[in-house]
Amino acid sequence: MKTHYFMELINHQTLEEIIKAYPITTDFLANYRLEDIPKNQLLHQALKEVEDEILEDFGLDQYDVIESLCVFLVSFTQAETAVNHVASITIKGGQNKLNEAENVELTIFTGDIISIVGPTGSGKSRLLNDIECLAQRDTPTNRLILVNGEEVDDINRFEMDGKLVAQLSQNMNFVMDLTVREFLEMHAKCRLTPNADEVVSKCFECANLLAGERFSEATKVTQLSGGQSRALMIADTAYMSDSPIVLIDEIENAGIDRRRALFLLAKREKIIFISTHDPLLALSANKRIVIKNGGIAKIIETTAEEKQSLEAIETFDNTLLTLRNSLRGGELITAELLRE
Ligand SMILES: Nc1ncnc2c1ncn2[C@@H]1O[C@H](COP(=O)(O)OP(=O)(O)O)[C@@H](O)[C@H]1O
Ligand SMILES: [Mg+2]
Repeated sequence: MKTHYFMELINHQTLEEIIKAYPITTDFLANYRLEDIPKNQLLHQALKEVEDEILEDFGLDQYDVIESLCVFLVSFTQAETAVNHVASITIKGGQNKLNEAENVELTIFTGDIISIVGPTGSGKSRLLNDIECLAQRDTPTNRLILVNGEEVDDINRFEMDGKLVAQLSQNMNFVMDLTVREFLEMHAKCRLTPNADEVVSKCFECANLLAGERFSEATKVTQLSGGQSRALMIADTAYMSDSPIVLIDEIENAGIDRRRALFLLAKREKIIFISTHDPLLALSANKRIVIKNGGIAKIIETTAEEKQSLEAIETFDNTLLTLRNSLRGGELITAELLRE
């Protein structure tokens, strides 16, 4: 639908008019070194005056440029709508694996962190998937996910696909052999991040803070350790992704400063769901959803006592971290290390 609308727009409006309505078009033109083409014409007319060589450098012909602008406007305006509009997510219960009703209605607002706990195989990932696809009583759990209190129709569901939710899953696979710097720059460019240079640097510093072991901007992403690549993805999501919802499936033992990562993401006005067995993470959330037999069995508000115990848990956790690092560094484990 939207594609059709933008195709019509491009075919019937001069570049001037398109830029007025969608200023971001200027960036699109600059990306293809077309910033100087005449703006008082339709795009296909203006393109006639462009030397073929310029476009060939990008492997494009004139028709491709028109199509790319269309795709660009479709995705850009979607991203904007999604960000501006998501203020809350509501989970309306369906049924568990024993076909018992969930009887739950839970609304979560931006800035909230919700943890999801339960035995392996109980349905934690399933709940994350329901949120990811904005389930409308059409998944095995029969749950309904509302955005801003409303059901999501098929068109919106399709349009928001991939824009609403950033998912950090257990395995990160990098396909391209870029350096860390190139990887971040590419993302900044794709997402049209303003002040790209600054954001890329911030992102890099943050990823290093999160990762236990430092890495340089020139490191190839394929050579990062599990923890380092996880840290890079978290920093990337925090600084560059517009997605108002972040889903994290079990990041424990990834060799990163998990709590810092969590708060970093939460500060960016997002809704965060994290499935975890890690007490430090589970109790850092405002609420935790307890899953049993595929259903939401309980929702617990983190108590004051639990919040207080976080400090003690963090001390345990740091001790464990020191032990791990010493082991990794080939050192002997002494009684003194345990007392620290
Ligand atoms: N309410 C439900 N009804 C039917 N199947 C479910 C339900 N909840 C979870 N499942 C299924 O149970 C299996 C295990 O769930 P999963 O989410 O992978 O568990 P976990 O992440 O807690 O280890 C999956 O195949 C999932 O689709
Ligand atoms: Mg799982």
